[in-house]
Amino acid sequence: MDHRLHGIQAFLVLVLFSSIASAAIVEHVFHVENVFVKPLCNEQMIPTVNGTLPGPTINVREGDTLVVHVINNSTYNITIHWHGVFQLKSSWMDGANMITQCPIQPSNNFTYRFDITGQEGTLLWHAHVVNLRATLHGALIIRPRSGRPYPFPKPFKEVPLIFQQWWDLDVGLLNLRPAPLSDAYLINGIAGDSYACSKNRMFNLKVVQGKTYLLRIINAALNTHLFFKIANHNVTVVALDAVYTTPYVTDVMVLTPGQTVDALFTADQSTGLYHMSISPYTSAHGIPVPANNPINGLIVYEGATSSSPASPLMPEMNDVATAHRFSSNITGLVGGPHWKPVPRHVDEKMFVTMGLERLSMQEAYFYNISGVYTDDFPNHPPRKFDYANFKVQTDNDFKMMFPERKTSAKILKYNSAVEMVVQNTGIISAESHPMHLHGFNFYVVGYGFGNYDPIRDARKLNLVNPQLRNTIGVPPGGYVVLRFIANNPGVWMFHCHMDAHLPYGIMMAFIVQNGPTPETTLPPPPSNLPQCTRDPKIYDSPKANVDLSY
Ligand code: C2O
Repeated sequence: MDHRLHGIQAFLVLVLFSSIASAAIVEHVFHVENVFVKPLCNEQMIPTVNGTLPGPTINVREGDTLVVHVINNSTYNITIHWHGVFQLKSSWMDGANMITQCPIQPSNNFTYRFDITGQEGTLLWHAHVVNLRATLHGALIIRPRSGRPYPFPKPFKEVPLIFQQWWDLDVGLLNLRPAPLSDAYLINGIAGDSYACSKNRMFNLKVVQGKTYLLRIINAALNTHLFFKIANHNVTVVALDAVYTTPYVTDVMVLTPGQTVDALFTADQSTGLYHMSISPYTSAHGIPVPANNPINGLIVYEGATSSSPASPLMPEMNDVATAHRFSSNITGLVGGPHWKPVPRHVDEKMFVTMGLERLSMQEAYFYNISGVYTDDFPNHPPRKFDYANFKVQTDNDFKMMFPERKTSAKILKYNSAVEMVVQNTGIISAESHPMHLHGFNFYVVGYGFGNYDPIRDARKLNLVNPQLRNTIGVPPGGYVVLRFIANNPGVWMFHCHMDAHLPYGIMMAFIVQNGPTPETTLPPPPSNLPQCTRDPKIYDSPKANVDLSY
C-alpha cells in the first residue's frame, strides 16, 4: 500500500493534573487530502486523513477529552462522525451531516471537542457524508482510566484489525444506484495474496508462542457484512461495540458494517504460519454480490520455518445460521465496568419496519425553525402485512419499495425508556440490515426470525444480560427488540449502516428533549459550526442520481 505520510501530523497529549482524577486532553490534527493509492492494479485518487488508508488510530482513556482539528484540503464536503461515542451533552460534535451540522467545505476547518466517558473498547471514526467513509475512517480505541484493569487478563499486545471494502474506480462513482460491486476487501489497507498485483503484500502479525493478543476488530466496509476466522485457532470475544461481554469462545465471527469486536487470541498452536481470513456474509437472495474468495492476512509465529500457511474453511456466503449463532449468543458482562441494568419499564413503545436543505436538523430544532423536519414519525408502520414474507403482487406493493421521502423525527422526553421493535420486512430482498443508533447504546433484549408477536415474543425478552451495543444486524426475515434510555438531549440518527441502503430511506432521527436542569440541557452550538452553502464548484459527486443531503 502506498502510504504517503505528509502534512503535519501533530499529536500531543496534555495531561491535566488534578487532585480528583487524571484525565487527559488528547489532541489530533486531521488533514483531509486527496492522495493516490494502489491497493490493486490501478492507481486511484482518494480522500484520506493524513495520507493513509486506513486513517490514523486514535488512542484515549475513558474520561479523556478528545480534540480533533479537521482541516479540509480535499475537494469534498466532509464531516467526521465518532461512531459509538455517546457525545453526552456534546451532540453538536456528532458529525452527522445535515443532522447535527452542515459539512466542512473544502479549504475550511472545524474542531471537534468532546469527552469520552462511560465506555471502553474499540470504536471507529468515519466521514458521515454520502459514501466518503469508504476511504475516510480509522480506529478509535478507548482504554480504561489509568489504574483500572481490563475485566480479563492483560494481553501481551493489542492489534487493531480494520476491514475495508475497496472499489478499483473513482470513488465518485460509488453514488451510482445500484451501487457498483466492490473489487476487493482490505485488511489494514492491504488486499493480500488473493489478488493479482497484491500477491506479495499481506498484513502480517508476528506472534510469540504462548502469548495472548487483544485483536481490536472493526468492520469499516461500506456495504458488506464480513465473516472472520483464523486457521486452527479459537478466539475469546470480550467486548462488542466498546461494551464488555461475557467471554465467548468461538472459531468464527461475523461483523456488520459499523460493528466492532474485541477478541483475545492466544498463539497456542504449533509454530507456523496461519491465515486470518475475511469473506462476505450476504443474506440477500437473487441480488448480485461481489466475489467471495477469502481475503487473507498472515499470522507468523516467531521461529516459523514453513512457507505454506494453513487456511481456515470459511462459512458459505449465505450461512445465516452461523451468523445468527455468533450474533445472538453473546451476552453482556453484568456487573462489569460501566454495566447498567436493563430498564424494566418502558415509556415509549415503537414498532418500526424498515425496509434530508439549508440547515442541519439540530440547528432547526435548537432555533425553532420550521420547515426542515416534521415531528410525526409514527410509532407503528402505516400498513400491516406479513412483514417477514413480503412479495410484490400488486402495484401498491411496488410502491412500498419506494416509500414517501420525508424528514420526520420521533420526539422523546428526557430520560424516557424507549423500546423499539425493528422488524425486517423482506421488501426488495430479505437481508440482514445493520441498524445503528447515534448517541446511545441499546440493549438487544429480543432477537428472532419471523414476525414479532407482542404476546408470545415479549415473554422471551432477555432483561438480565443482553448485549449492549450501537449497531445490530436485524436478521433476514426477522426482528430485534431494542431498549435504551433517552438521557442525552439532541438530534440523533438511527439508520442502516449499509451505505447503499440510505437512499431507500432506511433512516430516521430521534429528538431527545432537554431535561429539567442546565446539566441536562443541550448547550448552544459552537460559534464556528460550519454553515451550509451550495457551492456548485464543490465536487460532491457528479454522477449521483440520489439526494445528496444525507
Ligand atoms: Cu457509523 Cu451514522 O454512522
